Amino acid sequence: MTKPRVFIPHRISEKALSLLAEHCELDYRDVEEMLDEEAFFAGLQEACGLMVYSRHKITPDVLDRAPRLRIVSNVAVGYDNLDLRELTARGIMATNTPDVLTETTADLTFALLMATARRIAEADRFVKAGEWNEWLPSLMLGKDVHGAVIGIIGMGRIGEAVARRAKGFGMRILYHNRTRKTEAEQSLDAAYVSLDDLLRRSDYVVVMTPLTPETVGFIGKRELGLMKQDAILINTSRGKVVDEQALIDALMEQRIGGAGLDVFATEPVQKGNPLLSMKNVVTLPHIGSATRETREKMALKAARNMIAGLAGEKPENLLNPAVFSH
Ligand code: DGY
Repeated sequence: MTKPRVFIPHRISEKALSLLAEHCELDYRDVEEMLDEEAFFAGLQEACGLMVYSRHKITPDVLDRAPRLRIVSNVAVGYDNLDLRELTARGIMATNTPDVLTETTADLTFALLMATARRIAEADRFVKAGEWNEWLPSLMLGKDVHGAVIGIIGMGRIGEAVARRAKGFGMRILYHNRTRKTEAEQSLDAAYVSLDDLLRRSDYVVVMTPLTPETVGFIGKRELGLMKQDAILINTSRGKVVDEQALIDALMEQRIGGAGLDVFATEPVQKGNPLLSMKNVVTLPHIGSATRETREKMALKAARNMIAGLAGEKPENLLNPAVFSH
């Protein structure tokens, strides 16, 4: 029996590759960089399965080039890069990789919060630039994390994992979510509050909500205007959830205290972006889930989803179950 053909336009772990090779015929490109459009489209021609990172936008135009496609396996938990409605309409399965990156992304979120609060990146640059000539009492004064109020917008798996870390730091936890999480409220002493209440009361506002048509610009001028003047905004979800221009304005006018950003409206962030020259803004290149262990687990999960889908089974992380019931 011929094996279904899977197109993998980027490097993945050896383990995931061998697992896939047992079940599929692979069109594998061992490269880190994005393929150019011509090579990508050529690979789509014969593909029954396609594995992508979230940097690949799967649009109707892309799908038009993939007449045999049955499944798109996203190596990411966020799936705003997939046109789910279009995939469903065409009967193509879509999957993602939740759970395996929860703790890793929460670690990075908390590291970013700490780095922004305590000016870690700025202090490191200062020392390495040879500018540390004298110890001064007011040198690199930051903001306390312990005992402060953290407000988590989007209490999903990663939001809860951030809250667990915050509890360990003795922080008071507020959260806002579409649905209440009563278990988390009890185990983490987290208080459910309205969005406005969260913004007014938090010392650290952590944006964890996925990007959907409803959450584009969810944190805009009005919301930033409600934050305390020394509050810090942390975003490790998707850049477009925050209105980036409104954030730049709020920082420039010193209406908030700072920001820690792993994600941007446009990625990679453009060189002239004013956020890059602000001392009170810590910027990272979208590395929330970027550890060796977690990338391996994500690739394996994506491989298993792919194998199940192509075998006619329901993948564990199917995003559009309507396709499966057809
Ligand atoms: C995710 O898994 O969604 C990460 O942000 C990587 O895209």
